[in-house]
Amino acid sequence: MQSFSTIAQMREQVGQWHRDGLRIGFVPTMGNLHAGHFALVELAREHSDKVIASIFVNPTQFGPNEDYGRYPRTPDTDIAGLAGKDCDALFLPSVDEMYPFGTIGCVQMHVPGITDILCGAHRPGHFNGVAQVVSRLFNMVQPDVAVFGRKDYQQLQVIRYMTEEMSFPVRIVAAPTLRETDGLAMSSRNQYLQGDERQVATTVYRTLRAMRDAAAQGTPLRDIEDQATLALQEAGFIVDYAEVRRSDLTRPKLPAEPGLVALIAARLGRTRLIDNLEFDGE
Ligand code: PAF
Repeated sequence: MQSFSTIAQMREQVGQWHRDGLRIGFVPTMGNLHAGHFALVELAREHSDKVIASIFVNPTQFGPNEDYGRYPRTPDTDIAGLAGKDCDALFLPSVDEMYPFGTIGCVQMHVPGITDILCGAHRPGHFNGVAQVVSRLFNMVQPDVAVFGRKDYQQLQVIRYMTEEMSFPVRIVAAPTLRETDGLAMSSRNQYLQGDERQVATTVYRTLRAMRDAAAQGTPLRDIEDQATLALQEAGFIVDYAEVRRSDLTRPKLPAEPGLVALIAARLGRTRLIDNLEFDGE
């Protein structure tokens, strides 16, 4: 696997592959890779001839009191893991390469509406940072296909809107959420969980399934959300939200609509967990 840290090097390689008629698949990550990320690489491979992954812990998507400083950075094991998955290239830009004009006064990217709800309401500016770095990465790497996990459901929708509106020539492919055997969605942040918290964390997926089942029984949406919030609070979570939305994240009128998604964000100790479950209410 080749590694590139500058835009010029990355573009030269991509340019060559494109001239050779090859399709480029891209998996942007913040590193600390686990089986969920490697599944994205495998899915990218199914849609392309060459797969590029990037590792960049993006400062602009973290709030001032969030975990940018302590976000796990494990480049050596990440590189070995990607090489083992036959990833063709790794893009590892520095903060200066990504933000040559700094992170404050630089060009911004804002996707209105969808970024102000759910996680956007609890992490102001987060999705601006995500949209900003993903748009830069698309421009730097120039992929044909990019793969994002459904676990970050709102992020996936933000990136879809942005890609469509900006006419980025990139096809967005969504990958299913990978779970531990007890249902906990895989995430780099799971390693923040201390002692009993790891077991308690399984409440999130259980609650999502209970939300889906309650919708199937026709329980009013407000009651579904109240019951979910209570279940999480009783388990020890501070709940940011537990909501049922349509797949485009607008609010449904009834629990019996097609294409719904239950979404949870909740904090357990120092760990903020997010997860979701898509289902048909019909
Ligand atoms: O999902 C992530 O790991 C990040 O938000 C992303 C898409 C790589 C942007 O920094």
